[in-house]
Amino acid sequence: MNTDRTVRTFTDFYRERGHRLITGSTLLPPPSDPVLFTTSGMHPLTPYLQGRPHPQGRRLINLQRCLRTTDLDEIGDLTHLTVFEMLGSWSLGDYSHSQSLRWGYELLRDGFGIPQDRLYVTVFGGDDQVGPDTESLRTWQELGLPVEPTDDENWWSNGPVGPCGPDSEIFVWTGDPGTPPQGTPTTDPRWVEIWNHVNMRYRRKEDGSLEPLPQPGIDTGMGLERLMTVLQGHRSVYETDLFEPWMRLLPPLWDLDEPSTRLVCDHLRSGIVVLGDGVRPSNTGRGHVLRRLIRRVLTTLRRDDPSRTLTDLPVELVGHTLDHFHQSCGTGTVREFLLDEEQRFTNLLERGQRVLSRREFEGPLSEEDYQYLHDTHGLPRDLVAGLLTTD
Ligand code: SER
Repeated sequence: MNTDRTVRTFTDFYRERGHRLITGSTLLPPPSDPVLFTTSGMHPLTPYLQGRPHPQGRRLINLQRCLRTTDLDEIGDLTHLTVFEMLGSWSLGDYSHSQSLRWGYELLRDGFGIPQDRLYVTVFGGDDQVGPDTESLRTWQELGLPVEPTDDENWWSNGPVGPCGPDSEIFVWTGDPGTPPQGTPTTDPRWVEIWNHVNMRYRRKEDGSLEPLPQPGIDTGMGLERLMTVLQGHRSVYETDLFEPWMRLLPPLWDLDEPSTRLVCDHLRSGIVVLGDGVRPSNTGRGHVLRRLIRRVLTTLRRDDPSRTLTDLPVELVGHTLDHFHQSCGTGTVREFLLDEEQRFTNLLERGQRVLSRREFEGPLSEEDYQYLHDTHGLPRDLVAGLLTTD
């Protein structure tokens, strides 16, 4: 089951059940939105989940690219990605949560061929504001799946205010073949969450209280890369077909340890997508996130070989990424920005080395030193810290 076929299976399944495929948005939310990047599939649909009629109807699906900086320190492990894609389905005041769970189970079992005994689900167990999600519990029990109610892990919100509600998460057993499933999703990490079905029933107000939405909706999201890892029986997202050219071309080019290869691969791929969506490196906002991604790549590459350079980055990887995300930006433009950023970083490092070699900066630096280096010489704190540790 390759990625294209998996996406088609998902879209065909929901189309047959009256859903329309909407075009996934870019990583950039609308200007009125306070967040920097789209962080989940439902993000572009927020106004519609709060009651605005959607021009394409009440049953929708899409494939949305997302970017999360909250996981940046996890990058390099087997499962986290900065830019990832989410398959999503929505009912805007149409069918019930129970219907969404039933269809979800049918697609996993019949469409993707995941056996029932490798599935476990969790439901919202209730808190002091909202009672337990008995509808989902009953639905799963009728379908014959093991269910674990949780205290605080089954509540989804997009931020401190806005639409939110109880959710039900579907987990797949990823233990070694032949190892029968053990424990529950909260006790054994080999249960991997692949799909979240949220019952968007409330809106959280500024004062923290909840008000019922006039028209409750369903929002589901399934991380594509993680789904492919499970369906293709791999341990890591980087082993899926999505990363095939990356893992074929990068290791022979730059001989790094595995976590570093994964970090370089993730950050470069993410950087290309962000550039493809029109963001340019800068010191603030989205541009700063992009700059950090590229600089982390450069720091990792140069750690044990200062001669490594993005000039060697195969153009096939840039083209493959832009094609995959249907971005019209040319490979030449992306490459130019990457190389320009590399040059800036090199200049900054040289300046940093010169300044730090002065007498006054011998010994441990004070808060004021860091402030001065930043304000007067444009040397960010992490870069200074990096230069001091390499000395
Ligand atoms: N919004 C939910 C999530 O991001 C489901 O799409 O998990």
